[in-house]
Amino acid sequence: MILAGQLLLDSSSGDCRLSPGFVRFDNGYVAEVVEGELPKSADFGGQSWLISPGFIDAHLHLPQFDMIGAHGLPLLQWLSEYTFPAEKRWEDVDFARSMCRRVFQQCMSHGTTAMCAYATVHYDSAIAAIELATSLGLRGAIGQVLMDRGAPDYLCREANRLIDQTVKMIDRFPPTMRMSTAITPRFAVSCTRDLLTAAGKLSRERGPFVQTHLAETQEECEVVRRLFDEQEYVDVYNDSGLIGKRSVFGHGIHLNDRDLQILSGKEATIAHCPSANSFLRSGTMDRVKLARNQVKFAIGSDLGAGYERSMVRVGRSMIEAASTLHDEFPTASQAWHAITAGNADALGFADAGRIQAGFPADLVAIEPDIPWLDTKVSPLSMLMFAWDDRWIKQVWVQGRPRLPG
Ligand code: GUN
Ligand code: ZN
Repeated sequence: MILAGQLLLDSSSGDCRLSPGFVRFDNGYVAEVVEGELPKSADFGGQSWLISPGFIDAHLHLPQFDMIGAHGLPLLQWLSEYTFPAEKRWEDVDFARSMCRRVFQQCMSHGTTAMCAYATVHYDSAIAAIELATSLGLRGAIGQVLMDRGAPDYLCREANRLIDQTVKMIDRFPPTMRMSTAITPRFAVSCTRDLLTAAGKLSRERGPFVQTHLAETQEECEVVRRLFDEQEYVDVYNDSGLIGKRSVFGHGIHLNDRDLQILSGKEATIAHCPSANSFLRSGTMDRVKLARNQVKFAIGSDLGAGYERSMVRVGRSMIEAASTLHDEFPTASQAWHAITAGNADALGFADAGRIQAGFPADLVAIEPDIPWLDTKVSPLSMLMFAWDDRWIKQVWVQGRPRLPG
């Protein structure tokens, strides 16, 4: 299979460049990337097509796709009113499986080929989600949500049982797999110290991803102080052994330099979720502060608090959010980088986020209907701000086409 067009390639400085050329893939892997000219014939593409690596979503909630748009409440009320009841539906594993089929199809149709995702507290449904993601060839990690308090009884489980189930899930989907298990304590508000400590111990023993939420709202930070003897949020996770190289913390808005230094010292990642932050009115994450403290940065949709299924639109939200804080904000080229190679680097996906020979063929063929190459505006900026999902003509996951037709 040969795809021709403007290849979206990363440059070492944290942004992207475009180069005319083609990608050839075979048996699910990229065999050749040629820059310079377009070939005389190709299976897909043309001069004004964009050929992009598949997008990577560093933070989303699979069971929340059916409740996107529950607007108006702050985080903790939004969780009680809408989120927990939606997650209850996953006690029915058949429902969860069929929902995942829809959700993964939606992600892929928007160009997402890799993700770090939350399931629910229901073990069988989390297994169904990761099995399906694996069979579709998706890259990433999925976790059974761990909660032993601070949520309705129907979603709380005893800590030991949750840890035993996560151990079983890691046995089946270890860190070496293309789609692996993430240890997923929801956030400190819904976990006892015992549960967090057991999760931290398991992460040291087995080395999988850890994903949780951190300092998304001021109110949440206050609740954590109250629950954990006036400790700071970051210290609660640090004392539990949950902060490490493979830990991905959703949001991280309300953190000071000291907190960020702790995350940076342990090479942990913050998954910035700009559209969710504006939707829940949680605050604006300061990327400049993160960079100053050298904290690893990833970007996620956080569906369903986030309302954008397209990572391109999430990239655009990042620019918009950052430009309300400082005169210095990311360019569209940097945002394209963030949703591809940047996320791959932050998450340690050494085989994703780039168009590169030897990588799995996770690719998106895009045909814009605007003169993006023939303009004074930066082409990548025009594409990001004028973005139209209908431009996506095909998406390949490990070389398999995932859109009809
Ligand atoms: N904090 C704890 N759980 C959640 C969740 O499901 N979504 C968001 N945005 N924040 C959370
Ligand atoms: Zn989240």
